Amino acid sequence: MDNQQLLTMVTQMTLEEKVAQLMQLAAPFFEGAEGEGQITGPMKSMGVTEEMVRNSGSVLGYAGAEGTIAVQKAHLKKNRLGIPLLFMADIVHGFKTIFPIPLAIGCSWDLPLAERSAEIAAREAAVSGVHVTYAPMVDLVRDARWGRVMESTGEDPYLNSELARAFVRGFQGQNLREDVQRVAACVKHFAAYGLSEGGRDYNTVDLSEWQLREYYLPAYRAALDEGCEMVMTSFNTVDGVPASGNTRLMRKLLREEWGFDGVLISDWGAVKELIPHGVAEDEAEAAYKAIQAGVDIEMMTSCYVHHLPRLVREGRVEEEIIDEAVLRILQLKERLGLFERPHRGADPEAEKEIVFCAEHRAAARELAEKSCVLLKNERGVLPLARGQRVALVGPFAQSGDILGPWSWTGSRKDAVRLDTAMKAAAAEPGDISVAEGSGIEAMTEAQWAEAARAAADVDVIVLALGESSEMSGEAGSRADITLPAAQLELLRRMKALGKPVAVVLFNGRPLDLRGVYDTADAVLEAWFPGSEGGAAIAALLYGDANPSGRLSMSFPAAVGQIPVYYNHFSTGRPLGAPDAQERYVSHYLDLPNEPLLPFGFGLSYTTFIYGKPQLSGKIMTPDRPLELSVVLTNAGPAEGEETVQLYIRDWVGDTVRPVKELKAFAKVRLAAGESSEVRFTVTEQMLRYTHQNLEFASDAGQFSVFVGPNSRDAEELRFRLEKGPVTSGIRLQGASLGNNQHEQMGSEMR
Ligand code: BGC
Repeated sequence: MDNQQLLTMVTQMTLEEKVAQLMQLAAPFFEGAEGEGQITGPMKSMGVTEEMVRNSGSVLGYAGAEGTIAVQKAHLKKNRLGIPLLFMADIVHGFKTIFPIPLAIGCSWDLPLAERSAEIAAREAAVSGVHVTYAPMVDLVRDARWGRVMESTGEDPYLNSELARAFVRGFQGQNLREDVQRVAACVKHFAAYGLSEGGRDYNTVDLSEWQLREYYLPAYRAALDEGCEMVMTSFNTVDGVPASGNTRLMRKLLREEWGFDGVLISDWGAVKELIPHGVAEDEAEAAYKAIQAGVDIEMMTSCYVHHLPRLVREGRVEEEIIDEAVLRILQLKERLGLFERPHRGADPEAEKEIVFCAEHRAAARELAEKSCVLLKNERGVLPLARGQRVALVGPFAQSGDILGPWSWTGSRKDAVRLDTAMKAAAAEPGDISVAEGSGIEAMTEAQWAEAARAAADVDVIVLALGESSEMSGEAGSRADITLPAAQLELLRRMKALGKPVAVVLFNGRPLDLRGVYDTADAVLEAWFPGSEGGAAIAALLYGDANPSGRLSMSFPAAVGQIPVYYNHFSTGRPLGAPDAQERYVSHYLDLPNEPLLPFGFGLSYTTFIYGKPQLSGKIMTPDRPLELSVVLTNAGPAEGEETVQLYIRDWVGDTVRPVKELKAFAKVRLAAGESSEVRFTVTEQMLRYTHQNLEFASDAGQFSVFVGPNSRDAEELRFRLEKGPVTSGIRLQGASLGNNQHEQMGSEMR
């Protein structure tokens, strides 16, 4: 159908039909769905009639080829104009083949594999009847107390943006109409949800527009630049107004400034939540504010269906606004090819073959191997030698709870557990003795006695510790992010046996590792590694694979430092050398300023040596970028992969500038003894940032470029950016040019 035909369809719809198209309901409302008619709890109070369901536009959280086909068929029989339903679901890090959680994928820094994970998730979801995934979640995160950091790819705007693009490419492919084994992506949660105060979920967010543009918006923008079809609003406030009723954010910035013309959906119940937020008196006002802001679909509440028709008839809402929202939804259905193929990719036969197939599981394993981060490795504990006797102890030794939150379609019983994989990887299965040792939150003396027996006669102890998946994810905030006391006690007692101890951590957030990092000899951060997690970890522990993950979020020295992140400003009183003993500087009396482990950090079983980096010149101009080269040598015993990271510092800006900002990275695989020259082009575009007047531009002046293995240990080189007129041999500095000059320099709106 062309746009004219879609417009005609809109004119044929009654006002009630149009408004129902904007409502999204869960499957129990629909004929033919599993659980049909089981409308309980808050769903009951929605007061949704049969007629509204018949005219509704989309279904939330339903998958399965046969089920979705049955629902679509029944719907098309009843819907007067034959408008198909959209099936949307949270396919966040895999469908049945579960990949590592997004924070772990962030730590892989592997864009092709991230893209492939989304492509596989799309393929499995699409053959199971899903059309749209509520992903990628690209909220920038700095507070590990917030349980949803596991859904994000971390604290850096550049890395998040690159991953956002990779996910969108993987989900959507090139052509959604032709390629029915892809799904439309919905970037979320717009905007700045990651900044919930105190790390408490659903809490207030308040930040300057400058900070919003500089750090928080780039990843959403990157997803949209990559063609992401949909956007989801966030639960939080932005500038005092909840996002779902925020006209400045949605209509002005997203739609008018960025030109986003796709479908904007509210988060679950977020339209009605304008009432408890205290910006709408009742459902009618909530509907009014959300539709004015530009929210097309109301997820799981019914303010629109109950109130918009009357608001239109009373002349308070223009019917044109409703028509536009309906048209956008019909256009999305058209781009997905649903008018011609209402069942699209749903295919019960393909579903059996494709979902959780060996090829997909192999990709999940590869990404899990690349997502784990080796945080510490002393006394040569890792890799384990074949033939060593190993005690595998801890609540995650035999657990299938390794998929992580947001894996509703995955099955824990299909996950490869660590004990199974370790026994398969060892020279003899009998080399591994297994005990639980403790639960997640409590330890009994019987558990301890069993663990002590398992460890009595071994060479090395591997402790599998962590948080259950319920301890992170949505509504999974924690104020104390240390490991539960029972597990710390288990570690302490195990260590007291005098044998080398390696800890493998399963968790959804950077933890406060006091009691772990200082006690264990080795620490491998495995996150929630997904369906093939056990196999990936066993390969890493035995050295069949070499750890290559690098942290995409800093690990605090203690929870009291949070928010702690590498790209902070220097303040007027930066902390000097650690032994400077100054009081009146920006610091804590009882904690260092630095995190325990910085952004970009990760160890390997081999040693990478960086040569002296070289810069092609000391002066850059907008049309003369600089080349940076550095020779990287694998001087250790094993083949390995290094992530070479490039950071920038702008020494004098119109606004304050971060002490370091990631601008590029390269993943380099080298055999033992091999060297390679790694080259980067450092461009003027990399030096642009948001000015006081919100323009995005660079300033002439002094810069540093850093290259190295992480955000802390990078080697620094200086250069100058020159632009603009020369006065008596001295070039004017951008900082003193004023705003007009920035305009002449050619700015780029973000
Ligand atoms: C979450 C979203 C999710 C939606 C639909 C909400 O509670 O915040 O991330 O996509 O539910 O399941």
